[in-house]
Formats: sequence, structure tokens, C-alpha cells
Amino acid sequence: MAKMWAGRNAGETDRLADDFNSSIRFDHRFYRHDILGSMAHATMLAAKNIISQPEADTLIDGLQEILEELDSGKLVFNPASEDIHMFVEEELTARLGEVGKKLHTARSRNDQVALDMRLYLRDEIDEILGLVRDLVAAVLSQAKKEKTTILPGYTHLQRAQPITFAHHLLAYAFMFLRDLDRLQDTKNRMNFSPIGSCALAGTTFDTDRNLEAELLHFDGICENSIDGVSDRDFCVELLSALSILMMHLSRFSEEVILWSSWEFQFVELSDAYTTGSSIMPQKKNPDMAELCRGKTGRVYGDLMALLTTLKGLPLAYNKDMQEDKESVFDAVDTVKMCLGVFAPMIGGMKVCRENMKKAAQKGFINATDLADYLTKKGLPFRSAYKISGSLVAKCIAEGKVLEELSLSELKAFSELFEEDIYREIDLNTCVEKRISEGGTSLLSVEKQIKIVEEKLK
Ligand code: ARG
Repeated sequence: MAKMWAGRNAGETDRLADDFNSSIRFDHRFYRHDILGSMAHATMLAAKNIISQPEADTLIDGLQEILEELDSGKLVFNPASEDIHMFVEEELTARLGEVGKKLHTARSRNDQVALDMRLYLRDEIDEILGLVRDLVAAVLSQAKKEKTTILPGYTHLQRAQPITFAHHLLAYAFMFLRDLDRLQDTKNRMNFSPIGSCALAGTTFDTDRNLEAELLHFDGICENSIDGVSDRDFCVELLSALSILMMHLSRFSEEVILWSSWEFQFVELSDAYTTGSSIMPQKKNPDMAELCRGKTGRVYGDLMALLTTLKGLPLAYNKDMQEDKESVFDAVDTVKMCLGVFAPMIGGMKVCRENMKKAAQKGFINATDLADYLTKKGLPFRSAYKISGSLVAKCIAEGKVLEELSLSELKAFSELFEEDIYREIDLNTCVEKRISEGGTSLLSVEKQIKIVEEKLK
């Protein structure tokens, strides 16, 4: 196929080299953004009398027609085109003749591809923001039902202190709210138009970059044309934000996997989000959570690939930068898929309150409260801690829990123990008394629920 850029290079490119060079098999996904960008470009060219208004109208009608035919499937991408930008221009010129050749005035594929990527990612970020909001809503709906469900809180995966399940779930809600902020920040910083930077140095035509930026709903323009075509920091930022989001999703997945195991039995996932085994009839596998955990590695990989691609590049455009697309597309697709299954999986998860409670009753998770009791009666905390530890050791030796020790047994360790110790180390009291801000008491948790609800609005 004759190249649009044939001129300096008269000879044919090798077929394998052509395939190697081509990006249409993946960049065709932003045909819509490419065409909308071209429409704005034609409008600007006419506004600045660089082409005539009738010429711009012809170009825009032609572009509209191509857009509709691509949408409907009537027109298919030509795999022999070098990329989506060339494909659209070739198609337009084939339809319009000489006028079609005017579209690329005062523009380069270097600023065009930077523009397309920003337009495309703006839309994708909006979609991801919606999916993360759905996830926070699912977490919140579960939290609201589990405000008094007590389970052991863990550190080192060892039973630590009693908490409520709502409190635990809300921890994730706050993480995902920060992910929303990060994505929104990324979008805000990305929302500046590179078009008009041209190849790198700007153009001799009297263009209006701000008009073009306005038409495409940007907040402004990239003020330096070399920066406009050279940097992909907005892609790196997005991949970082997505990696952090996936890290949160992966930790949550890990817990869902543990909780739904026979050993924990804290939750039961709905059949819609589990699978069976081909050999073991008893199995109900948390595949969705495992895949979210597994796919986190892919998204980290996408981030690393892009950072590594960019690190040694001299300014301005280099073909290496074509490699940004597959990493970014893969991360975007992966994150959307994960969020799409994770939110309803959490929303429909059955909570086994009794099992959580049973787990909370063993493991001495009220040992801190026992130490706090003595401390409030005047003993220095470190001494109280020692007594509590010795009592735990005694209990382990005798196969008991703290609540089962008699007052005289307790008094043998400290005269400060009175009858009220039993209420103090009751798990409900342990939870209810943790009234510090952000803590696990009903009051604190209800406050947190309000904050999340407010942020979701
Ligand atoms: N397909 C190219 C990319 O994705 C478009 C820009 C090509 N520019 C060039 N000077 N060859 O980066």
C-alpha cells in the first residue's frame, strides 16, 4: 500500500517491518476520539482562515460519515494502515479527494496521538470512577448491616482486639475513596490539550490552540509544544493510581479468600461469584477474588513497562512511545473487569455473624482491655500489661479464657481487681468503649458511615 508519507522514501517498506511498525490493531480503539479531534481541528482551521468554511464543512461531514460507519460496523479498519490516524485520513481522502488532504494542515501525528490518548483516557477515567463508586456503595451497604457484628481484629494475622465487621469494611471504603481522589486528580492534570504542538516546534500557521482546546472541553493547553508531544506522565500517573487501586482490591481479595475458607467461615460468597472444582464435589472456590489478586500483578507490570519505556527517551517524540498504548489499555481493561465483578460480589456476600463471634471469644482479644482496667485503677500501663500477660499464660496452661477466672484467682495477681472486671472484659464492652475518633465503637462507626456517604454524593 502506498504510504501517505511516501516522498523522501520512495522504496517499499518490508512487509514484516510494516507489520512491526503498525499500531492499528490496538489503537483502533480510539477511532472516535481521533475523529472528534479532527473535527475540532477542521473547525479551527476554518475559523483562522487557513482553510475555507465550505472545505471545513466537507471535512466534518466526511468525518461524521466515517464515524457512523465505524460505529455501525459498515466500515472496517484496514489492517494495512499504519495506525488509526493514517486510516482515518486515508479513508477521508479516498472519499473526498483533494479536500481530504487539507485536514492534516498545521498538525502532526505526534500531537494527534497525544491528543487522542488524553481524550480517550478522560472517558475511561470517568467510567472507572463510576465503578469505584459502585464498589464503595457495595461496601457501605454491607457495613450498615454489620455495625454490631463482632469479630477479631488481626495484626500479624494473629487475633488482636475485638472490632466490628462494619469498622473493618469501612477501612476499605476510605481506601477506595482516596483512589477516587487520585483518579480525579490524574484526570484534572491530564485535561490540557497538546494539539497544535505539531511535530514538536509548533507551526508557521496562525492557529488558535485555545479554540481547539475549548471545542474539546479541555481546561487549557499544554504551554510548551515539546512537552506537549514528548511526555506521557499522565499515562504513568494513571497507571500508578490504578496500581494503588488494584493493591487495595488485592488485599481485600486476600481477606475474602481467607474469610470464605473452611478455616475461617466468616463469609459465604454467592454462587454467582464462585466456581466449583472439576474433581472435588465439595468445593466452592473464590475464583473472582483470586483473579483480582492475580491481575494486580499485570497492572503493576503495565506501570513498570511504561516507566521503563520512557526512562531513556530524548525529547521529543520517539516511536518507542507507541508502546504506551498496550500497557495503558491492558491496565484500563483489567481494572474495569475486576471492579465489575468485585462490587456485586461484596454486595451479595453473606456474613456469618455467629462464626465471627465464636472466633472473637477465643484468642484473648480482651487482654488489652484487662490491662487498661488495671491502668485506670492507677497501675502503670507496663505493669498492668505484665499482669495481663501472666493471666493469659495461666489461662492457656489451664485451657480457659480470661472471663472464666474467678475473682480470687485474679486477685492473686493484683488486689486492684473487683467484680466490675467481668463487664470490662466483655467483648461488647471492649467494642463499645473504643469511642476514640475512627475507633470501633458504634458511635465512631456511625460517624464514619456518614463521612463515606457524604463523600459518595
Ligand atoms: N502510532 C503512533 C504512536 O502511537 C502515532 C504517532 C506517529 N508519529 C510518528 N512520527 N511516526 O505513537
